Amino acid sequence: MANVVVVGAQWGDEGKGKIVDWLSERADVICRFQGGHNAGHTLVIDGTVYKLHALPSGVVRGGKLSVIGNGVVLDPWHLLGEIETIRKQGVEITPETLMIAENTPLILPFHGELDRAREEAASTGTKIGTTGRGIGPAYEDKVGRRVIRVADLADDATLEARVDRALQHHNPLRKGLGVDEIDRDALIAQLKEIAPKILEYAAPAWKVLNEKRKAGNRILFEGAQGALLDIDFGTYPFVTSSNVIAGQAATGVGMGPGAIDYVLGIVKAYTTRVGEGPFPSELFDADGDRLGTRGHEFGTTTGRKRRCGWFDAALVRQTCAISGINGICLTKLDVLDGFETLKICVAYDLDGKRLDYLPTAADEQARCKPIYEELEGWSESTEGARSWADLPAAAIKYVRRVEELIECPVALLSTSPERDDTILVTDPFAD
Ligand code: IMP
Repeated sequence: MANVVVVGAQWGDEGKGKIVDWLSERADVICRFQGGHNAGHTLVIDGTVYKLHALPSGVVRGGKLSVIGNGVVLDPWHLLGEIETIRKQGVEITPETLMIAENTPLILPFHGELDRAREEAASTGTKIGTTGRGIGPAYEDKVGRRVIRVADLADDATLEARVDRALQHHNPLRKGLGVDEIDRDALIAQLKEIAPKILEYAAPAWKVLNEKRKAGNRILFEGAQGALLDIDFGTYPFVTSSNVIAGQAATGVGMGPGAIDYVLGIVKAYTTRVGEGPFPSELFDADGDRLGTRGHEFGTTTGRKRRCGWFDAALVRQTCAISGINGICLTKLDVLDGFETLKICVAYDLDGKRLDYLPTAADEQARCKPIYEELEGWSESTEGARSWADLPAAAIKYVRRVEELIECPVALLSTSPERDDTILVTDPFAD
């Protein structure tokens, strides 16, 4: 049986939620393996809009197991709130349909406070533009061996010792930032109050998943953010604090790399980015505004306006290689409808030299000027197309050129937020 990883191949917001939901029809288990509630996945099912942040997109489908893996950082209060919201929309969530890995690190209120305090204190040029959800500080505590994990909630003495260890680090840090010390007893009381509500979903997820795999279940790994926000391979330091590329799927749930059979990269037909950092093909003109307006480019999590630009094939070729992407799903092609001419960035000009990849050094990234290729646009609507025959010739030409330039085939084309407005070329789950 095939197991599929879905990852973003740009700066996030590529439309992963819809595709994960679409693929989850054929999966038995859906796992999140990194990130946290900084993610925002929008699903539109029969006209109902579901906005998910921490929950795997599979929860809206009945009869599936959704797993929050150890690679995630989890805000337990946020999670319980999200469960309530989704339940009110008629979705059943029980310990049979949702599992949280026992070794998942928790995001606590002081992580969010630290994240926001740092961003406020940052001068121009050093601000990351984070979602303010405490993601970075929680991952720092994980590698600093002082984070509180789900399993720690089960025993009062362990929990208290873990809190003390975390506060030993955080209180002096807060003092330096001019923020009040954390009230230890109040925090412990809050954690004890929430503990049973979280623990009912806790399990050794690695064990369950490996057993499920042996039993022939199909597993779908749901990535969040996009490769250019990866802590190692993204536009550092303007990145998120986790590995978001496909290799993380195995580590982030406790399976071997051999468990991954197919990597599907989600790629928007143009480029967007939220937050600070380099973006070579960014547009500051009417074309950029048009992409933003037609594409409804506002963040699901923070509501921030997304920066928009032409498709950058050099970047996507790079991220396809880094994530080992077997095929892409190209999304939001319809947003390009009506442009007379379209541009694709094929390489960069760095100080007079042509580069076919984005260099690592931040100052070089900032100096990279896009080299464009121009393609003819189309006037017809591609929205809702469900077969190649529904697409104008110029749109097909655009898609074929994208495939050539990124050196990766299109497996799926998504032509609207609706689940069934999708053209299937290759089924990632095919055995
Ligand atoms: P953080 O993940 O909140 O620390 O934010 C770090 C960077 O990642 C910022 O530029 C955010 O805008 C960006 N980011 C985090 N999550 C997402 C996402 O789901 N979509 C798009 N950008 C994101």
